[in-house]
Amino acid sequence: MAKFKLYPSILSADFAQLDKQIRESEKCGADGIHIDVMDGQFVPPITFGAPVVRAVRKLTDLPIDIHMMTINPEKHFDELKDAGADSITIHHEACLDIRATLEELSKYSVQKSVAINPATPIESISNVMTVVDQILIMSVVPGAGGQSFIPESLKKISTLSSQIKSQGLSISIQVDGGINSNTIADAVESGANILVAGSAVFNHSFSICDGLSKLRNIN
Ligand code: DX5
Ligand code: ZN
Repeated sequence: MAKFKLYPSILSADFAQLDKQIRESEKCGADGIHIDVMDGQFVPPITFGAPVVRAVRKLTDLPIDIHMMTINPEKHFDELKDAGADSITIHHEACLDIRATLEELSKYSVQKSVAINPATPIESISNVMTVVDQILIMSVVPGAGGQSFIPESLKKISTLSSQIKSQGLSISIQVDGGINSNTIADAVESGANILVAGSAVFNHSFSICDGLSKLRNIN
């Protein structure tokens, strides 16, 4: 099995114990913290923004990975970077001109990432492959944790992985949605190298350390 990174998504965390949960994630081998910024417009829920990012920044030295599910994401690049973001993902579907928005993002020293929804083909981002550090393949419809992995995502991951190799590019493939101990191996075998998991890490039935080790110890 190829090496991969695990980024817990705090969307499923117990916010009354966020401090403890972030520290436990770090202690038990998380490679980054994924923060879902939702605006109530691109997706129905409203979650959190820069003040929560700033609070998480104080709790950990791990990379902070922002997944912006917002329209007009460029309005918030400055405050998110200032709050401690290391990487910022914007959705192709949320931008009128994705190249221009990525150009704007390149003014901030963060890793640049573009996400596509399950219904969006990978061809739609072929014009930005040379300007991004990461591509996020959504394996559920964005907006909520705890949904089932959409199996058609695997073909998108493997096609994207081949394209990255054949073009000699260095781009991480992140996968987000429905990642658990049953789905993670297929995603990694298809070429994903950063796996986001919310409900498989922050769960009332087992500890964060157990959740992370179940994901880590796949064959
Ligand atoms: C969904 C979010 C995910 C979410 C994943 O829109 O982008 O990051 O937390 O949750 P699980 O891992 O439970 O599918
Ligand atoms: Zn996410």
